[in-house]
Amino acid sequence: MSIWNERARAYKESRDHASGDDLELLVRWAEAGPGVRVLDVATGGGHTARRLREAGCEVVSADPAPAMEPDVVCRAEDLPFPDGSFDVVVTRIAPHHFEDVALAVREMARVSRRLVLVEDTLYTSERVEEAERLRDPSHVRSYSEAEWRGFMEAAGLRVEEVVMHRKARPVEDWLARTGTIGPIAARVTELLAEHVEGGVFTDTKIMLRAGKL
Ligand SMILES: C[S@@+](CC[C@H](N)C(=O)[O-])C[C@H]1O[C@@H](n2cnc3c(N)ncnc32)[C@H](O)[C@@H]1O
Repeated sequence: MSIWNERARAYKESRDHASGDDLELLVRWAEAGPGVRVLDVATGGGHTARRLREAGCEVVSADPAPAMEPDVVCRAEDLPFPDGSFDVVVTRIAPHHFEDVALAVREMARVSRRLVLVEDTLYTSERVEEAERLRDPSHVRSYSEAEWRGFMEAAGLRVEEVVMHRKARPVEDWLARTGTIGPIAARVTELLAEHVEGGVFTDTKIMLRAGKL
């Protein structure tokens, strides 16, 4: 069973994911409203899909973990939809888990008619990558802005806007969500020392708004 099925409840209940200025920016970028058809890739606890539905969009959620209860069970690298099925395709705080992010971006571009919106953890350093993998072995890699621009352009998208969003949360909550305890939790905290202050871990999310060429 995928580790993500075991984590479904933690991500559905995650205050870290449920709201935020980043989510509101995605809603604005999507020009959300009635008649806008959106695909939410790697929906996890479903917070992005829910917020876009509240804003009036017709949303299809997708995720490979059945316990997340997506509308469609699938990987980002293999989206079971015809070309141009959606006005907007969005993925939030998930691509660092994708095995083949370049392929996933090509798939998102293929099934979109208009926009592809991405938010993910920005690459910081190899120390942070090591901490991320120790805390969560499903972490593949985070990417720099230049790498993101490369994935988008190679998929036939034009990057129209890039925003950096600082995200802070109690380090204890962040470790608990993946069940990280004991010496591993201690090592992760040590690796992240320069990004943790007063028990709060802060990192940067990169947000990209890209249009079809
Ligand atoms: C942190 S959660 C996503 C959070 C969610 N988008 C939100 O806004 O709250 C990461 C999700 O990525 C999914 N995932 C992992 N590998 C994937 C892949 N190759 N393709 C699509 N989704 C994947 C997991 O099943 C998990 O539900």
